[in-house]
Order: sequence, then C-alpha cells, then structure tokens
Amino acid sequence: MLRTANHDTSVVTVEFDTGTQARFHAIWLRDNALDPETRAPGNGQRLITISDIPVDISVSSAEISNGDLTVTFQPEDKTVTFPADWLADHVYDCARSLETGRVAHGITTWERGIEAPSADWGEVHANPAAKRGWLAAVAKFGFAKLTGGPTEPESLLKVADLFGYVRETNYGPYFEVRTEVNPTNLAYTGLGLQAHTDNPYRDPVPTLQILYCLENSAEGGDSIVVDGFRAAEKLRDQNPEGFALLAGYPARFEYKGSDGICLRSRRPMIELSPDGELVGIRFNNRSSAPFVDVPFDQMEAYYAAYRQLGEIIDDPAMGVSFKLEPGESFIVDNTRVLHARLGYSGAGSRWLQGCYADKDGLLSTLAAMDMAQPEAAE
Ligand code: FE2
Repeated sequence: MLRTANHDTSVVTVEFDTGTQARFHAIWLRDNALDPETRAPGNGQRLITISDIPVDISVSSAEISNGDLTVTFQPEDKTVTFPADWLADHVYDCARSLETGRVAHGITTWERGIEAPSADWGEVHANPAAKRGWLAAVAKFGFAKLTGGPTEPESLLKVADLFGYVRETNYGPYFEVRTEVNPTNLAYTGLGLQAHTDNPYRDPVPTLQILYCLENSAEGGDSIVVDGFRAAEKLRDQNPEGFALLAGYPARFEYKGSDGICLRSRRPMIELSPDGELVGIRFNNRSSAPFVDVPFDQMEAYYAAYRQLGEIIDDPAMGVSFKLEPGESFIVDNTRVLHARLGYSGAGSRWLQGCYADKDGLLSTLAAMDMAQPEAAE
C-alpha cells in the first residue's frame, strides 16, 4: 500500500506504508507501464520500443487509488496504474553496495568445513520440494551432490533433464572420464588435476558441469571442489592491486588437442560486472595460453597475482572433498566453483561420465518453481 504520492513533471515520489520513500522517473514509469498496449497480456513482453515514448514525456498527475499509484503521462494523456507491490519490488532509488568483488544476493561463499549439499536421486524425481532444494543449493553454493542414482551409462543425461538441457560440444553430448591410451585431454588419465574450471577456451563457457560416477574402486581419485568466488574475495582482501589486474586484463585460453579443433578465448580470470559484482572465474593451467593483453609494465605483477590466486585455490583449507560412489554425481557452477581430482592408481577402476549444461536453464526452472509455489522460496 502507498501512503503518499507527490510529483513534478519528471519525477514521482511515493511513500510506502512501511515508511520507505522512493522516487521514480517519468521515463522509467512510462517504459514500464503495465497496461495492455504497452505489455502483451499473454506473455508479458513489451509491445513498444524506446522510440515510441515521446522524448518530452512528463507526468501531469500522480494519485493513489486503492493503495496503488495511478499516473497520467503527457503528451500522450495516457493514464496507467502501478500496483504498490510491483513498485516496491522494483525500487531503484536506494543505497546499494558498489564494493568491487562483492557476490550477488543469494550467493554464499564457503571453504572446507561446510557439509557438501546433497540430494537423493529418488527424492528429486518424486518430490518437487526436494528438487527445489537441490537446485537452490547449486544456485547458492555453486555445487551439489546427487546420491542414490542408477549405475547405468548415460544416467548423467537424466540429471540434466531434471532442470534443462545438455550443452553438446566437440567432446560430444557427454564424455568419458577414465584412463585412456593416447588421451586427447589430460582429464582422461590417472593424473591428479589442479582445481580448475572447465573449458575456459570456450566463449561462452559451459556454465554447469555434471560429473557422474559409474565405477570408483581405484585408490585415490577423490573429487575436490573449491569456491572460486571465495578465492577471489581472499585475493581482493590480501592484494587489491593484484585482484584488479586479474579482473582488469583479459587472459587467453586455448585448446587444440584434437584434429579440426582450435578453440580460443580472450577473457579475464576474474570477471566482474560493470558495477563490480563477481560474475565468473576462469582458472585452468592446462588450457592457459600466452597472455598478450597485459601491458609490459604490469606483467610481473599480473603473474604475481596469478600465482597468489593459485596458492589460495590450492590451499587445503579451501577445498571440500568427497569420493563419489557408483550412482553418485555432482553438479558444479562452472563459472564459479573449481573442481580437482586426486591422482589415482591403476589398481581397480575409475569411470566417470561428464557433460555440460547451462545455469540459465537451472535458474529458470528454480525461479518458475518458486513462482508456482512462492511459500517454498527462501
Ligand atoms: Fe574438469
């Protein structure tokens, strides 16, 4: 409910019944009008372009009706009502953090010591609340395990089906992670792998990875996940200039390990939004290419920051580790959480299948579930 509404020609100022005040510009209100000539009633998409709004748009009246805001715009002489709740949800006249390297609302960074979020295969298939909790864990922590699944090959594709779509790449719809003779990728050996994000040489990178265990009787081969956002926060706090270098200059990544493939990208190791929020981490020693976008005078400092970020990532205090059993899998947000593998021996066998999928689909499924059942949302 609104308590008061005042206006001049270019700004409407409202006070909500909570006591909060907020200003809205005439151009913003007109652009966001909710009437059926401005927004298609069926799909909610906007029917007008920016050019359809008169350049001399102004407010001639702003009144409260039934607790909501009714505005008349000139020169169109168009009257539109904005529900108070809708306005409250879209306030932009407020203090906001502009701290560089902050994480988005709803994200919790972590290090060793947290319990790996986990859900049960049968539960997420049968119980929407369990599925919602599992997806929400991926959104909040950047990873989650799924236990108790089948041990048939290609079961990982059913994991992706729960929230979205597999992203097929040159590695196929999915790939086998087990020791190969003449491997096309070091992942397909028994070597340990430093914590990394996958495929930073793609643009855009695959935003989710699913790793699904079918056999794991070998010695070692534990999985380790590291929160890249926590690592970035630590670097920012310990060495703000180094953080700014890794965020401020593109790195280069490349993969040309098989015939007909030459993937290249030019993206930073730490990616920020234009207003300083952490957007993504790219970190992969195997596919890092020569850095040629860092000024000569900054290169040594850039390398020092890269080394420091690597030391933070390698710190055992950062990683959450677990050994997947057959029928267990995990999802990582590949824009945030790095994964590593301990080396494993030739005795016994280790067979995982991996595939990529996309986070927008997962977040869409989660948001749609929350819209359908808002009481389930946190
Ligand atoms: Fe990987």
